[in-house]
Amino acid sequence: MEIKIQSLDHIHEAARKFVEAMGDNTVFAFYGKMGAGKTTFIKAVCEELGVTDVITSPTFAIVNEYRSDKGGELIYHFDFYRIKKLEEVYDMGYEDYFYSGALCFIEWPELVEELLPGDAVKVTIETAEDGTRTLTLEDFA
Ligand SMILES: Nc1ncnc2c1ncn2[C@@H]1O[C@H](COP(=O)(O)OP(=O)(O)O)[C@@H](O)[C@H]1O
Ligand SMILES: [Mg+2]
Repeated sequence: MEIKIQSLDHIHEAARKFVEAMGDNTVFAFYGKMGAGKTTFIKAVCEELGVTDVITSPTFAIVNEYRSDKGGELIYHFDFYRIKKLEEVYDMGYEDYFYSGALCFIEWPELVEELLPGDAVKVTIETAEDGTRTLTLEDFA
């Protein structure tokens, strides 16, 4: 499945489509170069899900936790960009998050590829020359 984002003005519309497509899946791995728009899109999706907390890239904390004001649902937002060894990911107790049943949105999943649950949904964000983003969602259950 593909979702196009023509510009930042359309990001919430795209996020809404994504939320509709999520189904019962809980772990979403966002692939894409630096600057592709991973953090921006995850922020828009969290807002669609009713999060009113400040949403920032969890680069320094590895994981940010948000709570939806709509359903009280927990959302974990990871950024593994700065991970040097998988040990750091074991030490943070990644399993408690990935297998918690709570929503997990992951930036730089390629750095923890072998730890991703088998049913993680792969989302790729690509930027065209005109700045349009295309999200491709794979492996939907
Ligand atoms: N869909 C989009 N359309 C236009 N610009 C975008 C879009 N998504 C992100 N950007 C811009 O691109 C830059 C990088 O976005 P960011 O979400 O931080 O990327 P990443 O997390 O993939 O490194 C930001 O300045 C942001 O405003
Ligand atoms: Mg980011």
